[in-house]
Amino acid sequence: MQFNAKVTDICKQRSACAIVAVDSKNRFTDSGAALDKANDGGLSKLLKRGDLGKSAGSTLMIPQVEGGADRVLMVRSSNAPISQAEFRKLATASANAVKDLKDASSYLTELTVTDADIQWKAQQTALAAGLASYKFTRCLSDSKEHPLAKFTVHGIDKKQLKAAQKGAAVGAAQAQGSNVARELGNLPGNICTPNYLVSEAKALAKKHTKLTTTVLDNKKMESMGMGAFMSVAKGSDEPAAMIAMNYKGGKTSQKPIVLVGKGITFDTGGISLKPGAAMDEMKFDMCGAASVFGVMNALVAMEAPVNVVGIVAAAENMPSGRASKPGDVVTSMSGKTIEILNTDAEGRLVLCDALTYAGKFKPSVVIDVATLTGACVIALGSHATGLYANQDKLAEDLIGAGETTGDRAWRMPLWDEYQPMLNSNFADMQNIGGREAGSVTAACFLARFTEEYNWAHLDIAGSAWNSGAAKGATGRPVPLLMQYILNKK
Ligand code: BES
Ligand code: MN
Ligand code: ZN
Repeated sequence: MQFNAKVTDICKQRSACAIVAVDSKNRFTDSGAALDKANDGGLSKLLKRGDLGKSAGSTLMIPQVEGGADRVLMVRSSNAPISQAEFRKLATASANAVKDLKDASSYLTELTVTDADIQWKAQQTALAAGLASYKFTRCLSDSKEHPLAKFTVHGIDKKQLKAAQKGAAVGAAQAQGSNVARELGNLPGNICTPNYLVSEAKALAKKHTKLTTTVLDNKKMESMGMGAFMSVAKGSDEPAAMIAMNYKGGKTSQKPIVLVGKGITFDTGGISLKPGAAMDEMKFDMCGAASVFGVMNALVAMEAPVNVVGIVAAAENMPSGRASKPGDVVTSMSGKTIEILNTDAEGRLVLCDALTYAGKFKPSVVIDVATLTGACVIALGSHATGLYANQDKLAEDLIGAGETTGDRAWRMPLWDEYQPMLNSNFADMQNIGGREAGSVTAACFLARFTEEYNWAHLDIAGSAWNSGAAKGATGRPVPLLMQYILNKK
């Protein structure tokens, strides 16, 4: 998909569809009014008839009109200036309304309805359009191309063109990264194995000279003392891997941001087997890793001037004769010992060794991303990602990046008072904390391995995918992470 921002006359610019906003009093913006005039007031007539729904985000497609566009899409807004959240909603509703047009080679949409700055508006519009253009077709026998090919924002002042183009480019990169993450997330566990992720990381390095990939295999991880990671990997016939993608787009002196993704390509629970209902959704247990891939792909595509290392802890959590059992004690790479009371709390086991490994890259910050706990879904539902951090500034920056992109996170406590819930009689700690505060104790477990650097943990168990009829990976928190990284440079 190609994104652009242009100074155009909406009545003359050729396109498959022009999109205009209509407020609750049936008022157009300037460009909508011009289009209405070019159609002898035909658009107003439809509005008077009540054909466009009253609630914000309702759309009405007019299939044949005068002017440069083949069609007009009217989208209902409330009265200007609208909120940023509503702007996002309109951008998403508009993109969804045009995405299935067979000939939607290009469409135009306007940016005049909020007071927010033009760069932000162009970015949100491009992000919404890019996300709407994604469809999972890989495993369908009849897989077609994505229809939305080209997209232009209009209604821009000449002076603001640069800002709009910049915004559109960032939004497009965020969408591209999100869609990479969605595709990996949606792939079934029999295709997207740890080895599949390894080949993706190698392919990325082949395409870009500034990115190198190193892969630690089972033997190497064993020799490095990654006993926590290996305790999860050993139940599966699929070989596990610790993948590091090192992108050096910035100055050599600049310490890298290290992202760490949980890459459990399927989580059966292991010997502490999960119940059968909705177990298929545990193919999404590598969405943290997928988001790391999404970010790395987008950064290299836009040649961002930053240093970022993406680490992926890839393994399958299976029951077998070789699998870990409740009560087993293992030694992590840090030297700390862990009593495994529940083999289904495997994410923290792979992550603790990945986080110790992350320290080797002399990071400025480390951010791990994981579908870590069902308890996080109970606490926050699907709208907010759970955020934990051992430094306030880092937490604030991440929350800000989430607000900007609409990919929001909510801070949760990492207080010492929770730590005793992880005490064990048989090891330095146990891998579960009991029934209460399940998301917090999981984060507290990770905190024991990240004391040496600035660290944040994003629990995306609720935000990484949708269940039900719209089942599928969301690509979150790629927009948040991209925004954080680009804000920092
Ligand atoms: N991958 C799951 C977390 C999960 C569950 C995410 C459901 C999204 C939806 C994780 O590995 C897990 O199984 N966690 C356990 C931890 C428990 C055993 C302490 C959980 O949340 O039930
Ligand atoms: Mn699990
Ligand atoms: Zn899991």
